[in-house]
Amino acid sequence: MSVGVSPDLAAFLAAARDRVETALDTYLPRPPRAPAVLDASMRYSLLGGGKRFRPVLALAAADAVARGDEARVALALPAACALECIHTYSLIHDDLPAMDDDTLRRGRPTSHVVFGEGLAILAGDGLLTEAFALMAREPQGGGADLAARKLDAIAVLATAAGAIGMVGGQAIDLDGAGQVRHPDATAPPVFDAAALADMHARKTGALIRAAAEVGALMAGGSADEIAAVARYATHLGLAFQIVDDILDVEGEAATLGKTAGKDAAAHKPTYPALFGLERSRALAHEALDAALAALAAADLDRHLPALARWVVCRSS
Ligand code: IPE
Ligand code: IPE
Ligand code: MG
Ligand code: MG
Ligand code: MG
Repeated sequence: MSVGVSPDLAAFLAAARDRVETALDTYLPRPPRAPAVLDASMRYSLLGGGKRFRPVLALAAADAVARGDEARVALALPAACALECIHTYSLIHDDLPAMDDDTLRRGRPTSHVVFGEGLAILAGDGLLTEAFALMAREPQGGGADLAARKLDAIAVLATAAGAIGMVGGQAIDLDGAGQVRHPDATAPPVFDAAALADMHARKTGALIRAAAEVGALMAGGSADEIAAVARYATHLGLAFQIVDDILDVEGEAATLGKTAGKDAAAHKPTYPALFGLERSRALAHEALDAALAALAAADLDRHLPALARWVVCRSS
């Protein structure tokens, strides 16, 4: 994934990832407070690789509004780690036999393959819940202003992860692939362009938008700045999932760290399925341009433009 990354972005990515890895390692409760078996399963997935895109985006948004003021950026680190906990939980559950039934994730066997389905479900539950415990707890100290920002960030992230956001999008995805029973005999959804964009906005876009928003919020960005990074990340989130859909068609397991070709096999509603590969690529670039325009309009930059360009040229 270093192909096409400028030295500036590469240095920022490396430093931000390093920071996130170190912090993630310390934030979860350890045995004997947490049962060792649960601890092992949560850490297996959380500390087992991944691009760390959402926490990096949160830190990049924090850095953009704080214009590099490190003390302000540091305030976003717990929320950045909470995002990765929630994202990792969503992957564990997404891979379960009852959902996408995947056996490979981040280059290793999936949680349920290693620990069994029951513990995989609980590892996801644990990561989701600990994410909010972390955000309520950290950063410690500070006055009423920081406490208010923490509360706002928790609300933003909970809304993005919940029924109208990621979980809602995952439900639409399952329904679209014919994996939901309809006891009331209603029909599964039919996907036109708007319905597909809506599903992507929820299942992937919501958390990516929330990453930028909570990063800017925790770093003390103004209401206008927070709104601008949220607009940027809304477009970026769509680009991210379109590229994920394209990589499922074009990528290889060795690079992706997950099995390719699963979407078509499972009849998933995706951009390549509806639009074909070429149009999907064009739509990803349109979303990138819209993300860049949102930044330019707000006079925000630093690493955010390069990060957006990386999203559409990545190979994993
Ligand atoms: C995969 O996310 C699932 C989607 C929402 C598209 P990532 O591509 O960010 O996966 P990791 O975290 O790098 O493994
Ligand atoms: C998953 O989308 C989105 C989530 C909320 C986890 P996919 O099912 O396409 O993600 P991958 O391809 O398995 O990573
Ligand atoms: Mg899925
Ligand atoms: Mg999947
Ligand atoms: Mg996918």
